[in-house]
Amino acid sequence: MTTRTPTADWVTLKDLEHDPHPTLARLRAIGHVVWVPVLNGWVVTTRDENLAAMRDDAGLTVDDPRFTTGQITGPSMLSADGSEHTRHRAPFARPFRLDAIRERFTDAASQEVERLIDTFAADGAAELRTQLAGPLAARMMILALGLDIAAEDDILGWYARIVEAVQQMSAGADVPQDGRDAYAAFADAVRVALDSAEDGSSLLAAALGDASALTRDELTANAAVLLFGGIETTEGMIANLLHHLLADGLFAEVAADPVLLDGAIEESLRLEPAAAVLDRYATADLALAGVTIPRGDLVILSMASANRDETAFPDPDRFDPRRANARLHTTFATGPHVCLGMHLARLEAREAITGLFRRLADLRADPTRPSQPFGLVFRKPPAIWATWPTEGSDPAGT
Ligand code: HEM
Repeated sequence: MTTRTPTADWVTLKDLEHDPHPTLARLRAIGHVVWVPVLNGWVVTTRDENLAAMRDDAGLTVDDPRFTTGQITGPSMLSADGSEHTRHRAPFARPFRLDAIRERFTDAASQEVERLIDTFAADGAAELRTQLAGPLAARMMILALGLDIAAEDDILGWYARIVEAVQQMSAGADVPQDGRDAYAAFADAVRVALDSAEDGSSLLAAALGDASALTRDELTANAAVLLFGGIETTEGMIANLLHHLLADGLFAEVAADPVLLDGAIEESLRLEPAAAVLDRYATADLALAGVTIPRGDLVILSMASANRDETAFPDPDRFDPRRANARLHTTFATGPHVCLGMHLARLEAREAITGLFRRLADLRADPTRPSQPFGLVFRKPPAIWATWPTEGSDPAGT
């Protein structure tokens, strides 16, 4: 039997789900790379080692049968390395550039935020994850892919069934038939969108011109990856930002100042990455930061830990929207798989906060229902309750 050291056999899933940060701080004190039996994998703890691992797609692969999403969608950019990865990703590079995203999505996101706030502004209270962050992220991805807005409920239903199937597979099940059926229905909707796409009418349509190297099935798989990549994580990113601003009573001060808001977005991304970890698999026996990793082992890149590496970020547990180097976080990864949607995600977060401030400047956390991020891989508060004075209400609560 291979002995794996250093080992941290005291780590529990419960701690990692509820509040991983004290555990991760202890792991960093042990080493840059630590075997964690409860995860059946090596956790990379420091910022420098995580960045190096993200760039090393020869030693650490994403092309592995244990990668569950790929079993439903078939090959996509998310599960390919090297030149095969470039072939899948290249058509999407141009439409996802910062200037292209700003031009295409600024008004659309702002209007969607207004529409969502309209649905609850008169109530004096709302749960901002399910009433704002989630529907905003979903609607923007449906727009991005040129899918039919009228079919939004169907699309989100397929999405939920595919996520459920992936969870069952991660727990050891074969691909569930329901997940296959939901993916087939989604693939049909993408086919319709592709057939009716006019040049530049959506991000997917804009990618079509450069996508001659991809088959229709491959294009569909990449569209699915975009949908999954863009909903859960962006909902989590906006939810975590709202949590940090409201819990610290900083909402109005930050929302009123565009420079501070940009700083707060980066600082929130640093402090609580909505995707906390990435999985990789060792292609050969590896030496990583002096630790021997046997071929085939799972290597878990922990952005949550890298982002609180005290050698890069002094006082790392503190939320400080003025932190000068917050942008050095690892939340969108780096290297070949660096997040394609980061400009869109940041734009949505900015529009969500400025829209809320425009309409509900006195928004504050509901002290009777505090929020707290939760989750092993995807982390966000299950609920963010906020209140504000409405016409005729008594703001002092007397
Ligand atoms: C509009 C929103 C988003 C879209 C469309 C999107 C899309 C994508 C896509 C397509 C990839 C795969 C790139 C590749 O394999 O070459 C990716 C990677 C990634 N994204 Fe995003 N993303 C979005 C938002 C986010 C957010 C908010 C986060 C984190 C808070 C995030 C974190 C990541 C990470 C960590 C990776 C690297 C995956 C890996 O290396 O295996 N993304 N994203």
